Amino acid sequence: MNNIVRALKEQAKRLVFRHTSFAAPTYRYNIEPIQLATLITEIERLKNVQGNVVEIGVARGLTTRFLAQHIKNQKMDQALKLYAVDTFESFTESDVAFEVSQRGKSLEALDAFKYNDYEVWKKNFAEFKFVVAVQSDCSIVDYDQYGPIKVAFLDVDLYLPTQKTLPKLYKALVSGGVILVDDVLQGTDYDGAYQAYMEFCQTIGQKPEVIGNKCGVIRKP
Ligand SMILES: C[S@@+](CC[C@H](N)C(=O)[O-])C[C@H]1O[C@@H](n2cnc3c(N)ncnc32)[C@H](O)[C@@H]1O
Repeated sequence: MNNIVRALKEQAKRLVFRHTSFAAPTYRYNIEPIQLATLITEIERLKNVQGNVVEIGVARGLTTRFLAQHIKNQKMDQALKLYAVDTFESFTESDVAFEVSQRGKSLEALDAFKYNDYEVWKKNFAEFKFVVAVQSDCSIVDYDQYGPIKVAFLDVDLYLPTQKTLPKLYKALVSGGVILVDDVLQGTDYDGAYQAYMEFCQTIGQKPEVIGNKCGVIRKP
């Protein structure tokens, strides 16, 4: 009986693959392959250094899920926490107001991520005990309480939250640690992150380094 069911399933798969587009592979991540690869390479580089991993701005958790799988596969789940910081209800009103009034962005373009829900998000990650969801405006989080941090991914798009978070995150970062900042690309709706990244590099006297098309790198000596 099992063999008949298996054969029928295979037949159904063959039909779906050959005659519909449902089985066509899609790229589901919001960030580039080189960013995902760099995050993993950095976690591996620092595997013997005590410290946690932080993703700030997680949306529905695609990158979080990818990182969680790596941490689990490499059996690092007892040694570190993966903190996932987000409002879980989109941008803050004041951050959006700043983009519109001071940076010339359109309100409509920044209308995103309102689908999210903290309780649903946590339920989706229930099997990963080392993933800790933190519901907050990232600008007011004390990152020292989640430290030491060895790898951080900051992906909140806009100027103010990126600008306010970077110094606090950098302070909680271990020596040798790294912060990757998404949307470091001029001329987009989300180029507030670009401006904040460039300003912070100047503040700490570090030469900007962008990998791929839009990922700013900050290394703590
Ligand atoms: C581009 S999405 C993150 C995508 C995610 N990193 C990924 O790779 O799939 C931006 C997220 O930043 C969050 N966000 C924006 N401003 C924030 C703030 N001030 N504090 C916390 N989260 C914020 C939004 O709620 C949204 O979920």
